[in-house]
Amino acid sequence: MATYKVGYFVGSLASTSINRKLADALIKLAPAGLEFEEIPIKDLPLYSSDYDGDFPAEAKALKDAVSRSHAILFVTPEYNRSIPGGLKNAIDWASRP
Ligand SMILES: Cc1cc2nc3c(=O)[nH]c(=O)nc-3n(C[C@H](O)[C@H](O)[C@H](O)COP(=O)(O)O)c2cc1C
Repeated sequence: MATYKVGYFVGSLASTSINRKLADALIKLAPAGLEFEEIPIKDLPLYSSDYDGDFPAEAKALKDAVSRSHAILFVTPEYNRSIPGGLKNAIDWASRP
């Protein structure tokens, strides 16, 4: 059976995050053939185009993890009718060349 890699983001940075518990539960329930890897966002600096020529290690690791994933999963709370700032920052990093 083929194995598909799923990179997942947890949108909450809280140490007691219920979304992290939800992600753990989803992984336990997932069918065989899916392999999960969390893509960390906590230590990313705030994105600026000043970094475009020389990404920090955390941002390179994020882009590498996205590249080796066949699918991306977001498990996240809602903050003020939107996504948490930390997750938006991670998406901004991922979207850069
Ligand atoms: C800054 C902030 C903004 C929030 N805004 C919303 C919101 O707009 N809608 C909502 O349903 N819950 C909102 N919540 C509640 C969170 O979504 C809820 O507490 C969630 O369970 C937190 O997930 P976590 O335990 O993974 O950190 C907000 C919480 C915080 C801290």
